[in-house]
Amino acid sequence: MPLVNMVDMLNHAHRHGYAVGGFDLVSLDFLEAIVGAAERCSAPAILSLAESHFEHYDFELAMAATVAAARRASAPLAIHLDHGASLDSVKRAIALGCNGVMVDASTLAFAENAETTRAAVAMAHACGVPVEGELGYVAGVEGEDAEKHPGEVIYTSPEEAGAYVEQTGVDFLAVSVGTVHGRLRGAPQLDFVRLRQINERLRIPLVIHGGTGLTDEQFRALVKNGVAKINYYTALSDTAAARIRENAQAAPGGGYTSLLRGVREVIGAEVERCMKLWGGAGRAAQVLDECRAWREVEHVILYNLRQDMNEDDARALMTQGRDTLATVPGVRRVFSGRAVQDQAPYRYCWLIRFAGENVIESYRAHPTHRQFADGRFRPVAQDRVSVDFEAVE
Ligand code: 13P
Repeated sequence: MPLVNMVDMLNHAHRHGYAVGGFDLVSLDFLEAIVGAAERCSAPAILSLAESHFEHYDFELAMAATVAAARRASAPLAIHLDHGASLDSVKRAIALGCNGVMVDASTLAFAENAETTRAAVAMAHACGVPVEGELGYVAGVEGEDAEKHPGEVIYTSPEEAGAYVEQTGVDFLAVSVGTVHGRLRGAPQLDFVRLRQINERLRIPLVIHGGTGLTDEQFRALVKNGVAKINYYTALSDTAAARIRENAQAAPGGGYTSLLRGVREVIGAEVERCMKLWGGAGRAAQVLDECRAWREVEHVILYNLRQDMNEDDARALMTQGRDTLATVPGVRRVFSGRAVQDQAPYRYCWLIRFAGENVIESYRAHPTHRQFADGRFRPVAQDRVSVDFEAVE
């Protein structure tokens, strides 16, 4: 249940002057460390999965674990796609359980960036999922995450930022004010005047990428000027790697699990430090109270088939339904079933899981659904009942 609406979560942070960490995770150690730290600090947190890291793990499997971890957590959490590369990435992330997405078209010129982002916003909003866009460019300098962000930093222009938010409808904006992805070389000079101007113009939660290596003072000044989400990864990765090196030195013949001993704890300690520094610690109860819970919806259809339909026809219908309906944005899963008991009043069912309540409408209106429902299903289905259920927990 502690999955919460990410617009509510970040608006809460923006209003109350603190920032939520968007912590990128690359393994179960990271996932457990971040959730554990959020619970210990009573802080909201964003479990973030970056598309640029998908070479290191299976996104679908990682999402199953992330959703399960968020469900059983006591701290308010959101699950976010970081640096989504395309419309398809965004759609897939929502289907797998992300309730916030970033589409990163920041390497494109303004008009193309705005157009790509606008299309992602239209699709994600139809699912009730908020979108983070990036204007300007946060480059990488050094470290394993830096090479994913080649090129030079481009600062965000406050004027363009206003036009971008208006044209795209993004809920949060990642801005470039001098931070870099990965490790720092020297001390970064952040442009707080620029950040203040952007914040005054937009009044929406701002996002900082490249949180690693900033000073406490810099973090405080970022939060004071409208930053409500701070993306953080390299420091966690470097902390984990240092621990692994220590383990290797202490026990050169150690196996896999002995090399990883203590990794979760050091990642968790660094996440806790951030939560305290950025002001999220101690906010969990307030966030749970004031933000909408993020609830999936089960669209249930019970039906019988026309007398002339045999079991092969039924099977073909179900296969087609599963294949096509699963492509509608916001559909998490399509289950087609046959009653176990012969005497059941309804012989067949569909259980279609929606990402959230908004999908009830957008699914109904979607051409793929209409085509299947009107052209294929309804002509042969009888005695249909259809109800949308939200979870009661
Ligand atoms: P760092 O790796 O520099 O902390 O940045 C993370 C990030 O911005 C991910 O989007």
